Formats: sequence, C-alpha cells, structure tokens
Amino acid sequence: MRFSATYFHNFRNIQHERREWPQGFNLITGPNGAGKTNFLEGLNLISGWGPLERNTRIASLVRWKDDGREERASLWGRVSGEEDADIFASLSVRCSLKIGEGGTDATTMRGRIPVLSWLSGHASILRGGASNRRALLDRVGALVSPSYAARLHDYRYALRQKTALLRKSYNPAIADRVMIPLGSWLWAAREEITRMIGNALREFADLTPRPVDLSFARGGGGLEDNPATDFRRGLVLNRDRERASRIPLVGPQRDDVRISCGSRDAAVALSRGQSRRTASALILASALVVERRLGRKPILVFDELASELDSEGRSSTIDALMRTGCQIFAASTDPIPAAGVELHRMISGKFL
Ligand SMILES: Nc1ncnc2c1ncn2[C@@H]1O[C@H](COP(=O)(O)OP(=O)(O)O)[C@@H](O)[C@H]1O
Ligand SMILES: [Mg+2]
Repeated sequence: MRFSATYFHNFRNIQHERREWPQGFNLITGPNGAGKTNFLEGLNLISGWGPLERNTRIASLVRWKDDGREERASLWGRVSGEEDADIFASLSVRCSLKIGEGGTDATTMRGRIPVLSWLSGHASILRGGASNRRALLDRVGALVSPSYAARLHDYRYALRQKTALLRKSYNPAIADRVMIPLGSWLWAAREEITRMIGNALREFADLTPRPVDLSFARGGGGLEDNPATDFRRGLVLNRDRERASRIPLVGPQRDDVRISCGSRDAAVALSRGQSRRTASALILASALVVERRLGRKPILVFDELASELDSEGRSSTIDALMRTGCQIFAASTDPIPAAGVELHRMISGKFL
C-alpha cells in the first residue's frame, strides 16, 4: 500500500499542504520546529493510530491562531496499491474518520490501511521501559489479528476495574474471572508475535552487530506452559502481594520482551548507535511479519531516522529500509543523500 497524495489543513503548525508522494523512500528534512514530526503524526492519525502521545487532547492538534485556535483540522489522504481509497480525519474536540464516503472507526481503518509507525525515538525499544516493547507487539498484533485490539481494550477495561477494587480493599475475584481468558489469550498472541519478529529479524542481520534473540516474558507468570493455567497460578501466588500493594501484578500489563545479545541484555551490550540500529531492525522485522500475515506491504513511518547513527549506520539503515519495498516516510534534520531517497524539505509547516 502507499499514500499517493495527502492534504493537511490546520493540523498543528501545518496550514494548507497538498503533496503528491512517490512510492519508495520519502525523507522529510528541515530545521527543528519545521513540522516534520507533525506531518508524520498526521499520517499516524489518519491511519487510525491516534496522536503521538497517548493522552493528547484532540483539540490541541488544531492549529493555533493569535486569538485562540481554528475550529477544525482536516487530514486527507489518497491510498493506492492493494486498495484505492480516499481517507479522511476531521479533528475538533474528537477525531472522526472516513474511508470514501462512509464513517469508520480506528480499528477498521488500521486493518484497511496498514501503517507501521515508530515516532517516539527508536532507542526506547531497547533502552526504555517495557511499555515500549509492549507497544511494538501491540502494533503488530492490531495489524495482523482482527480481534487483538478489541481484546486488549476489554482486558484494559477489566484491569481498571480490578485496580479500583484493590484500591478499596475489595475482593478482585470478579475482575480476575474476566481477565484470565482475555489475558491468557493476549499472552499466547504476544508470544507468537515475539517468535515471528525474532525469526524475521534474521533478514536484517546486517543492522545488528551480533545476533539478537527475543524472548517473551509473561507478566507475573511463566511457571506453567498453558497460558490460562499460568495466569491462575500467578494470581494465587501473588494474591497477598496484590492486596498489599493494591496493584494488579499478574497479566499483560506487566509483560516484557527480553532482547539479548549472546548472554547479555542488548541494552547493556550495545552502544546507543548500535541500539538504534537494532531497534530499526526490530521495526523492519515487524513490518515483514505484517507483510507475511496480511499479504500487503505496510507503509512505514519513522521519526528522527539519522540521529545517533554514524555514516555507515545511516547507509545500512537506509539500505535495509529500501529492501523492504515498502513506502517509507522518515524525518531527519539533515538531508541524507543516498540513491533512491526522495528529499522533501519543510520549513514552518510548509513543504518547499
Ligand atoms: N496546534 C498547534 N498549532 C500551531 N503550531 C503547533 C501546534 N502544535 C504544535 N505546534 C508547533 O509545531 C512545531 C513543532 O513541530 P515538529 O513537527 O515537532 O517539528 P520538527 O520538524 O522538529 O519535528 C512547534 O514549533 C510547535 O510550536
Ligand atoms: Mg521532530
């Protein structure tokens, strides 16, 4: 799939921008504050993934005026390839999405227009907290399995109920009954996704200095093979600790993916630049998993592509990205001259 054109209006610092996009590698460059990240966030929104930061108020995305803000921002994109469609997002207090003439929801949009984006600093996948690694699994999960996002949503709802019960020192068993089937389904799905990404990672071995292994660690589990039995056992073993801490300690909210190089944790064994390259390899491996499962190539969106990479790191990352054959949108303050990279310069919310 690819975006063949976009038009963003009143979105963040972007006022009116229509742009045609070639298939291939689009590198958006420009000084700090030009609007590069804003543009990529727009792609993220229009394809059903929401704003960059989870708790952003939609109204804050609408362009500021001297005396307040515009009423509404609109994002339009034309996608072509396996499917040709016009997609829209209209933002005021909330975000509403449309494919063609019909309103749609984020889950449907994500399934129809597969976009895999990573906008919050790649090194975070290796060096940041476990939530970054869960976010990668969840992105892949939502793309490859129609029910993943819905189950994750229901699980989180039950988790909030359980937290509320624990805070009031009530028995959380009623929430546990809902969480066990959902949480153990998510464990099995995340395990499978981790295994698929780990296998696909071999295709990008040139980006990692040494072979990298992934293993999935169930939050508060891991003592039994069967996920549901494991979940129940985890709950029994952690019952007193959960009541004392008033925090649910068992389940997908505490999962992690261990990323290791030989016998060491990759975050310790690798330099920052090497971590970034390895993180790029993980995202590319994820894209390959999506492509193998969906039979369509996802559109890849990366922010700050070049930071912390030496020239060899930049060229091998770009080579690996090009090899995917996916359409790519990446941003970087420096133009990276490389064969096949289309440069799009941006200043003050406008493409030159
Ligand atoms: N709602 C908004 N209206 C107008 N400008 C905004 C809005 N939200 C953010 N900005 C501006 O967008 C700019 C940041 O753009 P960004 O895309 O992060 O730049 P970069 O090119 O460095 O990635 C900042 O100058 C910020 O003030
Ligand atoms: Mg930026």
